[in-house]
Amino acid sequence: MAATQSPSSQTWAETRGAKWRDQLDPMEAMLSPIDAPLIAALDLTARLRIAEIGAGGGGATRAIAAAAPGSTIEGFDISPDLIEAANARAGGVAHFTLADVAHFRPAERFDRLASRFGVMFFDKPDHAFANLHQWLRPGGKLAFAVWGPGKDVAFMASVREAVAAVIDLPQPDPDAPGPCRYGDPSRLLALLEAAGFRDCAASTWRGDLQVGGGMSPIAAAQFLLAASSAAAPLADAGAREQAEARDRLAAICEANVRDGTVWMPARVEIITAAA
Ligand SMILES: C[S@@+](CC[C@H](N)C(=O)[O-])C[C@H]1O[C@@H](n2cnc3c(N)ncnc32)[C@H](O)[C@@H]1O
Repeated sequence: MAATQSPSSQTWAETRGAKWRDQLDPMEAMLSPIDAPLIAALDLTARLRIAEIGAGGGGATRAIAAAAPGSTIEGFDISPDLIEAANARAGGVAHFTLADVAHFRPAERFDRLASRFGVMFFDKPDHAFANLHQWLRPGGKLAFAVWGPGKDVAFMASVREAVAAVIDLPQPDPDAPGPCRYGDPSRLLALLEAAGFRDCAASTWRGDLQVGGGMSPIAAAQFLLAASSAAAPLADAGAREQAEARDRLAAICEANVRDGTVWMPARVEIITAAA
């Protein structure tokens, strides 16, 4: 199967989950600044039943658990590799279940539904969000973090620039599953409204992300090429193209060094709604 820059849920279940797991520590360290705005948007009160969907290795799930003492929190993911890793790291604060959240129905409804970058990969988003509406009790709330437009997420734009300089890299289809599918959040808000959610809103978070949680330029370039879906097509290219893309990306990373490590600005949309 050719490596794709537009991973779907199925790609995550089959191959991409293991790739994400292999970069779990640096990836979760890089994404951790998103936890604070996501948790604030969840409007946590005492003793809630909380689900995180597309929970990956569970970094955000554990952060939400720490912010919600007395609540129960369960993470769901479609990747067996990531569920295994998440349960191994859960530390008794959460439990993780293998499920395709587009179709799965939990036995009991939740008070809160959270996701850090886990809702952009559904094959049929209208069906998936209608199903997720049934996960929340009436009056329950959701908060989802989704990436802004790719041009405003510098680590993604940088990978794209470096890879597109050495291989033919078509622009991803904005309707296809992929990390920046809801870079225009009005598309996601319309889907949520059609699925039955109310009070749907988006607010923009902007900040700097420390690439790989604190890496030198060459390590940051290697990490980004291993971790980013934009770099996936490079796996089918030759060693010369791969080395050139890495060197180009290392040069971009070098230009973004602050205090010895690479930092890049990002834009994230925090989506909120109620059932
Ligand atoms: C970009 S990763 C984010 C992981 C994690 N939330 C984090 O921020 O570290 C997207 C996650 O969504 C999961 N995912 C994609 N489609 C899914 C589906 N239909 N059901 C459950 N999980 C899904 C993937 O397996 C992956 O772990």
